[in-house]
Amino acid sequence: MEYRQLGRSGLKVSEIAYGNWLTHGSQIEEDGARKCISAALDEGITTFDTADVYALTKAEEVLGKALAGVRRESVEVCTKVYWPTGPGANDRGLSRKHIIESANASLRRLGTDYIDLYQAHRYDHDVPLAETLRAFDDLVRQGKVLYIGVSEWRAEEIAEAMKIAEDLGLDRIVSNQPQYNMIWRVIETEVVPMSRQHGIGQMVFSPIAQGALTGKYLPGAAPPAGSRATDEHGSNFIRYFLADEILGKIQRLKPVAQEAGLTLAQLAVAWTLQNPAVSAAIVGASRPDQVRENAAASGVRLDEETMRRIDDVLAGEIITDPAYTPASSTYSTVAARAGLAQPYDQSAGTYSTAATAGAA
Ligand SMILES: NC(=O)c1ccc[n+]([C@@H]2O[C@H](COP(=O)([O-])OP(=O)(O)OC[C@H]3O[C@@H](n4cnc5c(N)ncnc54)[C@H](OP(=O)(O)O)[C@@H]3O)[C@@H](O)[C@H]2O)c1
Repeated sequence: MEYRQLGRSGLKVSEIAYGNWLTHGSQIEEDGARKCISAALDEGITTFDTADVYALTKAEEVLGKALAGVRRESVEVCTKVYWPTGPGANDRGLSRKHIIESANASLRRLGTDYIDLYQAHRYDHDVPLAETLRAFDDLVRQGKVLYIGVSEWRAEEIAEAMKIAEDLGLDRIVSNQPQYNMIWRVIETEVVPMSRQHGIGQMVFSPIAQGALTGKYLPGAAPPAGSRATDEHGSNFIRYFLADEILGKIQRLKPVAQEAGLTLAQLAVAWTLQNPAVSAAIVGASRPDQVRENAAASGVRLDEETMRRIDDVLAGEIITDPAYTPASSTYSTVAARAGLAQPYDQSAGTYSTAATAGAA
């Protein structure tokens, strides 16, 4: 396993991280989760990503238990706040009240004294940014959080946060957690250039497009048993990538992967790591053999010809428009057009309970 600097912070992360959205506390049993974590540690993965909302708070508990007994200094534990964790008006978002309460609850569930990286899971349009940044800064000063990051914020929102932090002398954001894979390249035009300027590293999620880029879903065929596409919560989120046109093109990537000496999953993970703005690719896995397969993508260098062939095969399916950033005010429109899952209905101002159970 190779390790990278998280942006211009002093923190090193394993370039392949392991995340437990939709799996721990939900799709797979605790024993299976423990085996995946154990495989990750064996492969040299030290960076683990979760969120208060995953499996309605159970995912943090499962991760905490699986890491109990592991030397705390040898791992980086990353979690997030924003999506609803309870029924109350203040059980959500990035207010000072919810951030402080949610951080303390995450610490209890994770069974640790500090969170290495605490991330704002989305941008909160209802809370003054300075309030959010001060609450994060307080957690850092209390030693409960070591570094702060965001997830799926737009370039201008991150830039505004950097300015406020500088003006008020608050702790700075060091990471962003966006979706990024061979098909979904929304961050490349705006978020990445702005982040590089401010020394912010990308911890990218869904590098395998939730399993679609493994080639195991075939056009016109039923999804394999036990896969995310058959999971109660996961099926809604992966749906976009299961269109026949996309799946057909993914099948045409198989020879590209074979000639590079890789599986399709490894090609997908390695592709994200070719971008120097990426600090880590956060992979998910429902079985330990998937963790091992994906971890082997560390250190792989793809040549220019391979990168070009990937672009050629996927032409027409690659999404680059920054309007697809979920925090964007235009997101609900583009998401509806693309048939993307939306746990938060912006027009109604409500959260769907079923979708929140699987909120990303
Ligand atoms: N910040 C956010 O808003 C956000 C959103 C999404 C994710 N994330 C983070 O990113 C992490 C990873 O996201 P993700 O789970 O969507 O990533 P992913 O790595 O693209 O997809 C993981 C899923 O693909 C399947 N898979 C993985 N490796 C495979 C292999 N080698 N062969 C066959 N199938 C394989 C597994 O599902 P099945 O076996 O069930 O098919 C696995 O659970 C999450 O756990 C979370 O920490 C963050």
